[in-house]
Amino acid sequence: MSSAEFQKTMSRMVPQFTAAVQNAGIYPDNHPQSLSYIQETYHVMEELFEVKEKITLLLIGDSLMSDNRPLTITGSCETAFAQIFRNNEIERVTFIKGLTLLQLKEFIRNLSSASVSDMPSIRYIKFGKLEIKEREDRYKDHDDSHAAEIDTIHDMETKTTDERIKNIYREVLGGGKINLEDTSEIISLFMDNLHRESNPLQLLAKTKSNDEYTFTHTANVGILTLFFAEYLGFKGSYLNNIGVAAILHDTGKVTTPDKVLSKPGPLTFDEREEMETHAIKGAFNLMEQANIPNIAVLVAFEHHMKYDGTGYPRIKGDWEQNIVSQMISIADVYDALRTTRPYRHDPVPMDQIIQIFISGSGTNFNPYLVERFLNLVNK
Ligand SMILES: [Fe+2]
Ligand SMILES: [Fe+2]
Repeated sequence: MSSAEFQKTMSRMVPQFTAAVQNAGIYPDNHPQSLSYIQETYHVMEELFEVKEKITLLLIGDSLMSDNRPLTITGSCETAFAQIFRNNEIERVTFIKGLTLLQLKEFIRNLSSASVSDMPSIRYIKFGKLEIKEREDRYKDHDDSHAAEIDTIHDMETKTTDERIKNIYREVLGGGKINLEDTSEIISLFMDNLHRESNPLQLLAKTKSNDEYTFTHTANVGILTLFFAEYLGFKGSYLNNIGVAAILHDTGKVTTPDKVLSKPGPLTFDEREEMETHAIKGAFNLMEQANIPNIAVLVAFEHHMKYDGTGYPRIKGDWEQNIVSQMISIADVYDALRTTRPYRHDPVPMDQIIQIFISGSGTNFNPYLVERFLNLVNK
């Protein structure tokens, strides 16, 4: 099944699914009309499971996405589907191969009564939103024939985020397509961990090696930015897009030579020029990607600009750095200072980091954001 055919089949499944939920809310449990929509949904899912282990539906803003693309379905169906998600306070659902008709029926019934949050976990359905922990315990029992498949999926999902980010950056390097679902999964994972940790700064990883620096750093900037953005009050799809921008902010570095990235001493003029091109290259890379939020392109371009208009890329005339770029530039500098770098053996001590932000407030950094960021990291 080609990607276009997959999308077409998904677009066939969504109206059936929506009608199944709407009917389950009107008719009693085993009413023939209700059952027929559920069965039809299940049949289409079976076709999809022939080619994919997982089927994910994602609600970003008002758009319904699957397989990294918006689904083409009629406006009224999309609105009705979005409403079902909203009533249940979810933004994402993944159906996993091995799902039974009975499990689907129960899920649909709970969706129809907006009681998914009370529903016991089903190992073949995971659902959630960015702000809450996903409800899943499908790995707890391994008593059926699909345990091996599930383990494979589990392995895929527990790959370290650094590796997953590395794969995303490799896609960019190879001119491939960034999987928006993958970035959203990483963000969900970060949010889960942020909500679980009493001190989320503990989640920040130390740099492993120069080779891995960009990916570890990007994961750290992602965690810090989400922590900061949520503290500032961003929610839902805004929070997701800010997380995507943070994860992708350094994609321009994929073509920066290692000898420049990992140079132990100060950079020459030419090396510095080379290094600084990563901002423009990153923005161009991301512009070529479909479905990447615009803010990610802007952040790649602006994250080394300063609040007072200095920094790079140097722009003639007035240019006001977007507030998300200002937030990510704070997280970026904070992580660079707290880790070892090829040109600096020891991390900068915390009191000096705080001093750097205080003295850069109003020049390098937005003072409103510095004040709040320091409140957050000093909590
Ligand atoms: Fe950068
Ligand atoms: Fe960076």
